[in-house]
Amino acid sequence: MVIRVLLLLLAGLAAGCATAPGPARVEDEAQRLDEAKRLADARALADRFQAELMEALQAAIAADGTAGAVTACSAIAPALAERLSEESGATVRRTALRVRNPASAPDAFERGALVRLAEAPLDAAGRPAEVHGVEAGRWRYLRAIPTRGVCLQCHGEAIAPDVRAAIAEAYPADAATGFREGELRGAFSISWPLSSGR
Ligand code: HEC
Repeated sequence: MVIRVLLLLLAGLAAGCATAPGPARVEDEAQRLDEAKRLADARALADRFQAELMEALQAAIAADGTAGAVTACSAIAPALAERLSEESGATVRRTALRVRNPASAPDAFERGALVRLAEAPLDAAGRPAEVHGVEAGRWRYLRAIPTRGVCLQCHGEAIAPDVRAAIAEAYPADAATGFREGELRGAFSISWPLSSGR
């Protein structure tokens, strides 16, 4: 009788071990879910940043011409980044290896990510490539911003003299020209401390 109970117990334990995830697997699964949620949050923020900026850029060019849009852009882009950061509680910005606005210069993590993104701005499915991970207690996410045709009038190789003058006046240290279509212009960079519970 005692042996029978023991055997049953052992069988139950064995079955339990085979089906129930061990503590390590539960942790892996939780991490995978956290990661998926963080990615979705970061992507949604990058989407909003991109859509709102593009709309503002096109409206400014239509209203003031390209040279006029340079000043509009210098006010709109940082203000939009600030508003999205405030609304989301994340740090939302743009950065690049060669910047127009010195405040957009990359930190060490961003620089490493930008070097990788510059090698392949698009992923296998033709979408802007991403880099993400945890660094120094922060969730970090960068998404490539490839150079498009419309960008060349302010970031390309042949820039109209009035546009060039407007850029030189607002950004004397500008290093963000000479780009070609398809090349990496920069990246959306989004981060937040893991301690925020997100
Ligand atoms: C009307 C001129 C104009 C056009 C067109 C334009 N930009 Fe810019 N771009 C600017 C200005 C001005 C800044 C600096 C904004 C600031 O002060 O943050 C800038 C900054 C940037 C930055 C931030 C990094 C840096 O260099 O400071 C990125 C990334 C960028 N532009 C990408 C693009 C892309 C991609 C396009 C095309 C979809 C584009 N831009 C079209 C004027 C322009």
